[in-house]
Amino acid sequence: MKKNKFYVTTPIYYVNDVPHIGHAYTTIAADILARYNRLKGKDVFFLTGTDEHGQKVDKAAQEKGKSPKEHADILVENFKALWVKLNITNDAFIRTTDSEHKERVQAVLQELWDKGEIEKRSYSGWYCTPDERFWTEKDLVDGNCPECNRPVEQIHEENYFFLMSKYQDKLIKHIENNPSFILPETRRNEVLGFLNNNELGDLCISRPKSRLSWGITLPFDEVFVTYVWFDALLNYYTGPIYLSDTDKPWWPAEHHLVGKDILTTHAVYWSTMLMARGWELPKNIFAHGWWTVDGQKMSKSIGNVVDPNKIVDEYGLDAFRYFLFREVTFGLDGNFSEEALAKRTNSDLANDIGNLLSRTLTMIDKYRGGSVPAPVNGKDRNDLEIKIKQWFDKNYTGNISRSYDSFLEGLHFNNALSELWKIMAEINEYIAASVPWKEEDDETLSNILYTLAESLRIIAIYLYPFMPDTAGNIWKQLGLDTDINSIKIDETSNWGGLKPGTRVQKGEALFPRIDLKKKFKKEKTMDNTVGVHGDAPEKDNLISINDFAKVELKIGIVLEAEPVEKSNKLLKLQVDTGEKRQIVAGIAKAYTPEELTGKKVVVVTNLKPAKLMGVESNGMLLAATDSEGVLSILIPEKDINPGASIR
Ligand code: MSP
Repeated sequence: MKKNKFYVTTPIYYVNDVPHIGHAYTTIAADILARYNRLKGKDVFFLTGTDEHGQKVDKAAQEKGKSPKEHADILVENFKALWVKLNITNDAFIRTTDSEHKERVQAVLQELWDKGEIEKRSYSGWYCTPDERFWTEKDLVDGNCPECNRPVEQIHEENYFFLMSKYQDKLIKHIENNPSFILPETRRNEVLGFLNNNELGDLCISRPKSRLSWGITLPFDEVFVTYVWFDALLNYYTGPIYLSDTDKPWWPAEHHLVGKDILTTHAVYWSTMLMARGWELPKNIFAHGWWTVDGQKMSKSIGNVVDPNKIVDEYGLDAFRYFLFREVTFGLDGNFSEEALAKRTNSDLANDIGNLLSRTLTMIDKYRGGSVPAPVNGKDRNDLEIKIKQWFDKNYTGNISRSYDSFLEGLHFNNALSELWKIMAEINEYIAASVPWKEEDDETLSNILYTLAESLRIIAIYLYPFMPDTAGNIWKQLGLDTDINSIKIDETSNWGGLKPGTRVQKGEALFPRIDLKKKFKKEKTMDNTVGVHGDAPEKDNLISINDFAKVELKIGIVLEAEPVEKSNKLLKLQVDTGEKRQIVAGIAKAYTPEELTGKKVVVVTNLKPAKLMGVESNGMLLAATDSEGVLSILIPEKDINPGASIR
């Protein structure tokens, strides 16, 4: 087995309908992992495809008056086109109607039959046609299918059974000995609970052609076709054999990504099939949660099925990719709403990353004629600058690459993203604290601008698996001419990789802001017409009274003031706000320490403590600055006691 390889799969999707957000979700997850592992320098094989046999597809084809294959040939194109649109970098696309797949499925069936792993039995049971599953009497709920609640029919027939039950103990041991075989842990416990408390039956793997002819004929009895799940699960094994362009053995897969509803078929059917055949088990099966839409289950009858094509056309691809993996922990259920997507686009994308890039490039254009300046040693502007550099320093224990790697290896996508956003927040704070547009020392300013541009370059690399277009766009605007799709993270993410003298090329805003008021006003009005509570349309820069109430403002009196060492902007103040606190304020250019002592001021008293130039600050003084740069602190109009609350 190749050590430096990474093989990831998605479920293969039924071609009974068009793709929806659920299909897009798993496939983008696999794409993030594939891109990340390529960045890490691994050989990657990323397989997706379509499940084209069985009752569901047969029925859908009949409804359209087509043969199942004609129908599949039409519908498969929707999936292929969507993957192009979503920037999916799958290495292969398997269709279970491929002759190479069918031949291999037949070979496996023959081998298992020859080994005595399959038996013919006469059988009677309750059959759910839409789910294509047999149930025992005690499984039924009020006489209906326990999964879809639809009526079942009693069927008596001869069939072939895979002797799954004999692998029950071996499977339990495998799951117990391999804690990351099934993830998340809650799902692993569910599967273990099920296996420990129930007797595993054998699996009916044939359907008589008289009842369903659309499938792969059993090699040892041509009156039957293969059960669709037995055929479909084998795609993970057959796909890389005939679809990869190398002779390297890709099996076993690192991750099978699946939705929670199809975990049992993977964890139990597929694992025991592999055991019977004597093949290794996949390293991991990860079951993700389901998306609801505006709080409701997605369904055709409600008419709320989310078409990923439409969302991408309206909000852009990377906003969609980002939202899916930032909003919800992979493994849990989540709720999709366009409004939530638009809000995140404005706050996290247009504001945080978009503004950061645009401010940085504007300053490089304005102060350095569009050339990235050389950093100057020993000219660190403040503690924040030191902290930012440490994050990107591979020798530092708290460096970003370690947490990012461990989050992505555990499929904690949202944590990896929030780690990056924490850094961006600190960088934005660093800009505010360094006030580069007022910096008089040339070398210090060069250092600030380099720190900003270099941070953005490295952030782009980490963003790449999630938002490849955006990462490429940042790359281009920073003036980098290498192809971001072919870089290796270990070589390129070290601090100092950005060459001084690089000509930046400021372009369009990364994410244009969405006018929430305009966009969602109509929907809100519609809500009202159906009696659902509709708030007054919101301006996107307005906050609610509850938001404002979170800020605690008090009157304080400045007891002492002194300059902060090595800083020409910061003053260290001791302020009494009902209790004594130390505040560091960037007002040294406007006020002398003597002027401030004894002044009554307005203080934000519930800010998280921060360190500025190594000095702890507990709160913030309110001050106003006008367009000419005049700075004035706010003082109460009457002589009021320190500690008085401002409401
Ligand atoms: N063909 C089988 C899989 C065989 S794999 C060997 C199948 N296909 S499917 O097209 O019905 O569904 C594929 C995937 O979509 C499943 O992983 C399922 O969990 C996922 N989703 C369907 N609806 C979903 C949501 N609302 N949200 C997230 N994923 C959902 O099953």
